[in-house]
Amino acid sequence: MVLVIVAETQEVVKEEIGKMGFSKIIAGCMNWGRWGVGFSTESYLSQIERCLEIGITTFDHADIYGHYTTEAEFGLALKHKTSLRDQLQLITKCGICLTTPNRPNHKIKSYNTTKAHIIFSVENSLRNLNTDYIDLLLIHRPDPLMDPHEIAETFSILIESGKVKQVGTSNFTPSQLSMLHAIYPVSVNQIEASILHTKPFYNGTTDIAIEKDISVQAWSPMGAGKITLGTEDEQCRRIVSMANILGEKYGVTFDQILLGWLMKHPANISPVIGTTKLDRIKSAFEAQQVEITNEEWHMLLRASHGADVP
Ligand SMILES: NC(=O)c1ccc[n+]([C@@H]2O[C@H](COP(=O)([O-])OP(=O)(O)OC[C@H]3O[C@@H](n4cnc5c(N)ncnc54)[C@H](OP(=O)(O)O)[C@@H]3O)[C@@H](O)[C@H]2O)c1
Repeated sequence: MVLVIVAETQEVVKEEIGKMGFSKIIAGCMNWGRWGVGFSTESYLSQIERCLEIGITTFDHADIYGHYTTEAEFGLALKHKTSLRDQLQLITKCGICLTTPNRPNHKIKSYNTTKAHIIFSVENSLRNLNTDYIDLLLIHRPDPLMDPHEIAETFSILIESGKVKQVGTSNFTPSQLSMLHAIYPVSVNQIEASILHTKPFYNGTTDIAIEKDISVQAWSPMGAGKITLGTEDEQCRRIVSMANILGEKYGVTFDQILLGWLMKHPANISPVIGTTKLDRIKSAFEAQQVEITNEEWHMLLRASHGADVP
């Protein structure tokens, strides 16, 4: 009985958020702070505003980014202009415990998906991000010790309190996703997927997402930059060369072709882009217009795999 109520509540929340909408292209914030470009508060603010102008309204965080500092830096920018909060959606994650002077009680890198840790992490994220609610909370990595019943109970508490609007997973295998989803319906699985990482198309990860109507978000959609840096790498050379040929045909850039390739998949994938450069962010947003043919999609797949399909 409790589960039915939980499921209904989640449906209502999903409906509301569906109307509010996440942007198809999501701005990844992992590199905005100490793990990347080290934006000042002014730069965070202008980056958020430029993204909104472009049409990217959803921002992807995790508690651990910048060794637990990036959320607070982003939140400081939101504090400077409180009107921004209603114009954007915040994703954050929990469950990874890093060893860092910022968490002196962590003895080794580990996972923690207990109720106590998830709630502790959400409370920190809310405080850091200067917000009353998180639009989407993800369990960052599947934890061998995770108890799906305990996670479901925790999700239920967070949703009921209004502190979290939607819940999901990240890097979950099909069976892990299926296990949790059967107890508590999740909205999203955020996974690694790109022309350099096509495994999700073959190991059931995108299949189960389609079957259960779970949204897929793809991190490292540009292979964490490897595609563009990989002039020494035969696979990257093949991909860039093919993407350039198609880019010329459609009058777009090779990276737009690669994002268009990802978004053509029937799992309706949302790329979580990592660049901090505004021209590339704009270009990624415009990649939504790219429409390659099925055959061209397979040309890029062949360039990635170095062989025809069987
Ligand atoms: N859930 C998870 O486990 C998980 C794991 C990793 C990341 N994430 C999320 O995913 C986001 C994106 O990850 P990512 O940074 O690996 O994504 P990515 O977009 O694949 O890679 C970003 C890197 O590629 C370079 N790049 C992108 N487009 C380029 C282009 N057109 N030409 C040349 N270089 C280009 C960027 O350089 P420039 O900055 O110089 O453009 C940057 O170094 C993160 O910010 C984070 O929010 C989630």
